Amino acid sequence: MPKLIIDDIPVEVAEGTTVLEAAQSVDIPIPHFCWHPALGKAGACRVCAVKMLEGPVKGIQMSCMLPVQEGMVVSTTDPEAVAMRRAVIEWLMINHPHDCPVCDEGGECQLQDFTIAGGHGIRRYSGKKRTHVNQYLGPYIEHEMNRCIQCYRCVRFYQEYAGGTDFGVMGSAGRVYFGRFQEGQLESPFSGNLVDICPTGVFTDKTARFRARYWDYDMAPSVCPHCSLGCNTTPVARYRELLKTVARRNEAVNDWFICDRGRFSNSVVNDPLRPRRAVVDSRETGVAEALEALQLRIRDIEEQYGPGSIAVVGSSRMAQEAAELLPQLAHRIGAGALCFSTTRKEQVETLALLELLSAGRSASQQDVRNSDCIVIYGCDPLNEAPMMAMAARQAWRAGAKVYLIGQGISLPCEVTECTALEDVPLAEAERPIIICNVSVRVELLDKLQESHSHLKIAGLFPAANSFGAAQVMRETGAISLEEALADGEIKGIIAIEADIPAALLDGIPFVAALDWLAAAAVQAAQIVIPTTAWVEMDGSYINYEGRAQQFSKVMNPGVPIKGLDPNGHPPHSHRTVAPGGEALPAWQLLATLIKLLDDDSRGLS
Ligand code: FES
Repeated sequence: MPKLIIDDIPVEVAEGTTVLEAAQSVDIPIPHFCWHPALGKAGACRVCAVKMLEGPVKGIQMSCMLPVQEGMVVSTTDPEAVAMRRAVIEWLMINHPHDCPVCDEGGECQLQDFTIAGGHGIRRYSGKKRTHVNQYLGPYIEHEMNRCIQCYRCVRFYQEYAGGTDFGVMGSAGRVYFGRFQEGQLESPFSGNLVDICPTGVFTDKTARFRARYWDYDMAPSVCPHCSLGCNTTPVARYRELLKTVARRNEAVNDWFICDRGRFSNSVVNDPLRPRRAVVDSRETGVAEALEALQLRIRDIEEQYGPGSIAVVGSSRMAQEAAELLPQLAHRIGAGALCFSTTRKEQVETLALLELLSAGRSASQQDVRNSDCIVIYGCDPLNEAPMMAMAARQAWRAGAKVYLIGQGISLPCEVTECTALEDVPLAEAERPIIICNVSVRVELLDKLQESHSHLKIAGLFPAANSFGAAQVMRETGAISLEEALADGEIKGIIAIEADIPAALLDGIPFVAALDWLAAAAVQAAQIVIPTTAWVEMDGSYINYEGRAQQFSKVMNPGVPIKGLDPNGHPPHSHRTVAPGGEALPAWQLLATLIKLLDDDSRGLS
């Protein structure tokens, strides 16, 4: 491992590390625009200049392009290096708008940071600025080409990393343009990462522009709930409105990026139709009163129809904390059924895949990226869990073979089509992985693993906490709702964040729904109690590989301060709790209800 000195600090790093990375490893920051850990080096921006004082290389060098060598002595503060970086910033700012105070990227712009850090404040060049016409890139991404500093990060990400073909770089004389050949919606399902990766504001999230400054944001580490991969995110909110979601790095999971589904599905949290108030028999009431009413109604139903006439129904989208409490509630009630799935087929498939993945055979997204042989087996990763397709592409870029068994499936990489698993040379691979979903023939993979002990499986489940809910399902012997309703004994359903088809609720005399979505059960329920969305609570999901990940509360629950009418005024009345702010996490409601039932059975209520 080469040893070098950076700003008088001895550093020892692995062969192949660049001087910029070596400096970062000892917390010495070097300005950079074009270099990105996921994209590597391009040498395009020239702002990472350092002075090499001693050793095999001398003089001003670009630290992102230079691999470390034994005996190097590097200065990041040498006056010559500082002057070079200052000059680069000044050149970049010749054409860049000087409008930080009113720019929508202000406060989260790398160019702004390095311009201020480098001390550039006066524009000495008095010529005309080069300007560009912007393109319409769809409803999610705003294009502002005048801010471009030609770092090439966007096109390197879009084409090389993500495999997109409808966006690129075009040049004519001194003008370089990053956009589409013809304007129109970006086609890549990963296009939103342009927003994160652009070091200035050429690409911004159109859904959140001009809504708040970086320092106004409510933010917390979170986990994406929109598929079972558990990609790490940072949701951004202000005044109880979820404004946007950005990627959060986790090397073992999503690495640096997220898909557009995870990034642009924020409106579900701000939906005006969300249940915001507790309702008992069409009358709005407080949460405590609704819980008491539910406890009494449970007793009534049992008295009227006999014990075991109530089904407690959860789902795989509820956080693990609530899923764990559901069996306790079912036990206290003496429920006739505990359910986490709607159909028997869904139940059987989910449990079978859980069994297959429970013996340390699960492949993480990092495993997929590092695999040398990937089999896409009867699933559609780009639609079911887009970042899994992205992981397969990274493996393919590094030389892995990708085999496809299935019809009509597109992937962002070259594939070899096969008709059966036997056609794939798994034995020749060192790190083979099969990507499948719950519809897979589990016995087949089980048998295959006996003969290929190094084979790993990435089994895609349908929802964020399918794995965790399935574990509770397996431990408690939960059944599907379809089975529970078969003999007609169930006369009451308590649905907790459960997506029950309206047809199954038909003819059930009593329905209670605890949810934050306007699900069918909420429409049919006599008692509705609002729960919090994942960004309004602390909790955890267990992803498809069995990885438990915590998410933190980003914002308080309640109607956004701007009100539900986008042109309306916030409520004028003074109150201690925001309108709709009574919602509680499902686990907290369940714990309270269990206590009420306990007190009742001991004659304390
Ligand atoms: Fe080194 Fe751009 S970061 S040249």
